[in-house]
Amino acid sequence: MSQVSLCNVTKIYSNNTIAVQNLNLGVENRELMVLVGPSGCGKTTVLRMIAGLEDITEGKIYIGKYLANNMAARDRDVAMVFQNYALYPYMNVYENIAFGLKLRGYPVPEIEKRVKEAAQILGVERILQRRPYELSGGERQRVAVGRAIVRKPLVFLFDEPLSNLDANLRVQMRAEIHRLHRRLRTTMIYVTHDQLEAMTLGHRIAVMRDGKILQIDTPVSIYNNPVNKFVAGFIGSPPMNFINGKIIKKEGRLYFDEGLFQVKVSEESRKSLLNYVSKKIILGIRPEDIYDRLFVSEAPPENTLKVFLEVVEPMGSESYLYLKTKENRFTAKVASSQKPGSGQDVELVFDMPKVHFFDKDTEKKIV
Ligand SMILES: Nc1ncnc2c1ncn2[C@@H]1O[C@H](COP(=O)(O)OP(=O)(O)O)[C@@H](O)[C@H]1O
Ligand SMILES: [Mg+2]
Repeated sequence: MSQVSLCNVTKIYSNNTIAVQNLNLGVENRELMVLVGPSGCGKTTVLRMIAGLEDITEGKIYIGKYLANNMAARDRDVAMVFQNYALYPYMNVYENIAFGLKLRGYPVPEIEKRVKEAAQILGVERILQRRPYELSGGERQRVAVGRAIVRKPLVFLFDEPLSNLDANLRVQMRAEIHRLHRRLRTTMIYVTHDQLEAMTLGHRIAVMRDGKILQIDTPVSIYNNPVNKFVAGFIGSPPMNFINGKIIKKEGRLYFDEGLFQVKVSEESRKSLLNYVSKKIILGIRPEDIYDRLFVSEAPPENTLKVFLEVVEPMGSESYLYLKTKENRFTAKVASSQKPGSGQDVELVFDMPKVHFFDKDTEKKIV
C-alpha cells in the first residue's frame, strides 16, 4: 500500500487560482518521489496540502492508513522542510531542532537523545549553541533538516531545500540528501524546479505543469520516453531540440523534410507516422544524439545533413554546437576533441532510432 496517496485532489485558492487540478499520486513506502516543474505549477501547494497547512478543495489525501482530509497538521505523521528554512531567529540551533518535540511534550532526555543523534547525522554538533544569523546557508539548511529528522515521521516533505544555496554547495547537499534517505529509509516527497536535481535524486519523478502531473516514472524512462513535448523539453540539459518540418514519402519510404535537409524515418517509427504523410510535424532530438559526420564510421547517407554552424561553445570535455537553417535552430553536443570550427557548413548525422516525433497541434509524442 502507498504511504501517501492523493486521489483526484484539486486546490482552488480563495482568489480563484486553480493551483492543483485533479491530481493523482501514490508514493510508496521508503520511496524518494520528486515533484518537478516550473515555478507556479503547484508543487508547494501539493506539499502544504499533505502537511495539512492548506485545505483541499476536492479529493482525498491518505497518509499511511488514514484519510487525512480533516486531520490537523500537528496530528499528521509528516515533517516538512520549507524552502526558506523558517528557523526561529531567537533560538539557538539546539532549541530550533528540539522545538517540535518540546511542543509535542516529549520528555527532556528523549529530546536530548534525538537532537544529538540528528546533529551527528548532519554534522552540526559543534554549532548547537549558535543562533541562525551566525550560520552559513548550508548550515541553516542542515538545521532545518534536523528539525524534521528528530520527529521521526512517516513521511518527509522537502520544498526546494537547496534553492538558496550556491551551485557547489547544492551539488554537495544533493549527495547528502541521498545519503540521508539511505540512512533513514523514510518515505520522502521532494520538490524542485531543477530537472537535474530531480533526475539525480528521484526513484521516480512526477513532472508537473499548470497544477497537473503530466508523467510519473523513473528518471531514465522519462528521459527516454517523454509523453509530450513539454516533458521532453523540460528533462535533460541542454534541452531536446525541436525541429519543425513535415513527413514525406519517397519510393515507399518515409522521410522527415526540414526544408534544407531530409532524414530517413527509422523502421521502428515508420508505422506510427504513416498517418502524417504530407503533414507538418515536430522532430525531437537530444543534442547528444547528433554527431559530427567525420567521427562516425559508416554514417548512413540518408541520415546525414549539412547545416551552418553558427557558434561553438566549449564546455570543458564537451562542446555545444549551435546550428542554424532557414527554419530552425538546434544544438549538438560533441566531445571537445571533435569540435569543428564555427562559421561554416558542417556535416552531421542524426541518430534516427533515438529521435521522437511530436504532433504539431497536441504536442503529444507520436513515437
Ligand atoms: N495562498 C495563495 N493564494 C492564492 N494563490 C496562491 C497561493 N499560494 C499559491 N498560489 C498560486 O497557486 C499557484 C501554484 O503555486 P505554488 O504551489 O506555490 O507553485 P510552485 O511551488 O510550483 O512554484 C500559483 O499560480 C500561485 O500564484
Ligand atoms: Mg514552491
